[in-house]
Amino acid sequence: MTSPRIVLVTGAGIGIGRATAEAFAAAGDHVVVTDVLETDGREVVAGIEAAGGSAEFLRLDVTSTEAADALVADVEARHGAIDVIVANAGIAHRVPLSEMTDAKWDHTFDVDLKGILRVVRPALPGMRARRSGAIVCLSSIMGVAYGWDEHVHYSAAKSGVVGLVRGLAVELAREGIRVNGVAPGYIRTAQLLSEKNSLGPAGAEKAAEFIPMGRLGEPGDIADVILFLASQGARYLTGQTLTVDGGLLVGRY
Ligand SMILES: NC(=O)c1ccc[n+]([C@@H]2O[C@H](COP(=O)([O-])OP(=O)(O)OC[C@H]3O[C@@H](n4cnc5c(N)ncnc54)[C@H](O)[C@@H]3O)[C@@H](O)[C@H]2O)c1
Repeated sequence: MTSPRIVLVTGAGIGIGRATAEAFAAAGDHVVVTDVLETDGREVVAGIEAAGGSAEFLRLDVTSTEAADALVADVEARHGAIDVIVANAGIAHRVPLSEMTDAKWDHTFDVDLKGILRVVRPALPGMRARRSGAIVCLSSIMGVAYGWDEHVHYSAAKSGVVGLVRGLAVELAREGIRVNGVAPGYIRTAQLLSEKNSLGPAGAEKAAEFIPMGRLGEPGDIADVILFLASQGARYLTGQTLTVDGGLLVGRY
């Protein structure tokens, strides 16, 4: 039997990150569940272990370079490698342009875009040395296709993720490291259901009506695609950001 892969997931206490952690664990990998939400993160680990899987929780705020560097070093020291990174942590704050300060703009970019680089960067020497690694980054339909009013910083950061994925993919392609992205549509999580910052419950149900597949996405719908992107089945796939939206972008005209 080959040893389990070591999979690091950011923002894995709830939502898409949680479903992703559970999916990798169910596939037999050891999952490093990280988040700023400590209680939720520990619950995810307890659930994985109760189901017979392997996981651990480590607190990580992706806005801290020192913390990301230290966490990657610690995981590599204890497990010997990080095989897969799912850079999922994200925020989507509603900010009308009239209230868009530098600080609000920078905060979203710090989490949603630079937060990815912070976690990937320290893991690259190890991945390069082993000539092996898979990285999956979370973008959004608001980054690959739509403009989102009162979320200009979010759309811009999520578009930035597409460029980050492309650049990393090309620079790392000859070193056995693949980098891809996922752009979810409307997925039933705390982010989407927030009345203050996104569609809210009623808006989400309304959106379900014009999604060609006739329903909102569930976190597991995204997790399964992330699992595929990190698998051998995707061995010739790099630099792409896949839209996973129940047909929304191609069907809304
Ligand atoms: N839900 C959707 O419809 C949707 C659509 C498109 C893209 N996305 C993206 O998917 C990813 C996951 O979103 P979700 O819907 O599960 O959202 P969510 O709000 O349910 O979860 C986001 C997670 O990120 C974590 N996080 C936030 N700031 C952090 C920080 N500084 N450091 C570490 N962790 C931090 C949160 O604690 C939480 O666990 C995000 O990048 C989001 O932008 C979601």
